[in-house]
Amino acid sequence: MATTISINGQKHTIDADGDTPLLWVLRDILGMTGTKFGCGMALCGACTVHIDGVATRSCITPLDSVGSSEITTIEAIGATPAGAKIQKAWLDHEVVQCGYCQSGQIMSAAALLKDNPHPTDADIDEAMSGNICRCGTYLRIREAIKQAAQSS
Ligand code: FES
Ligand code: FES
Repeated sequence: MATTISINGQKHTIDADGDTPLLWVLRDILGMTGTKFGCGMALCGACTVHIDGVATRSCITPLDSVGSSEITTIEAIGATPAGAKIQKAWLDHEVVQCGYCQSGQIMSAAALLKDNPHPTDADIDEAMSGNICRCGTYLRIREAIKQAAQSS
């Protein structure tokens, strides 16, 4: 069944079953591989995208649930004010180690900053708690979010 969805401001018509996870649509059908597959069960955060600005696990989001909502992925988050600040802070703090979790981390951090421009440490920890980093970059992530918030 063909379904039309909007990703990063562009319409895409997808010929796939309605229960196909959005992550599969992004990566396997559209070749947008910036969004990562980690657990496939909403446990790691690697697959995080924004749906109407809300950080969402694309691995458990069926294609037919998206409707007319706007999807934003890591490929376009730098074009948003919060995303640009987060990406700059990530570079300044050299947050990334292996990098695998990082697109999901940035998407969660950008959603946090958009909704709460001056988060406390507790706010940061709560917003980022679902994003796992096997390299243990958590302290640099927190410092980068604080820097981004200071520039808000
Ligand atoms: S791949 Fe979606 S939360 Fe882990
Ligand atoms: S940077 Fe390696 S898993 Fe997070």
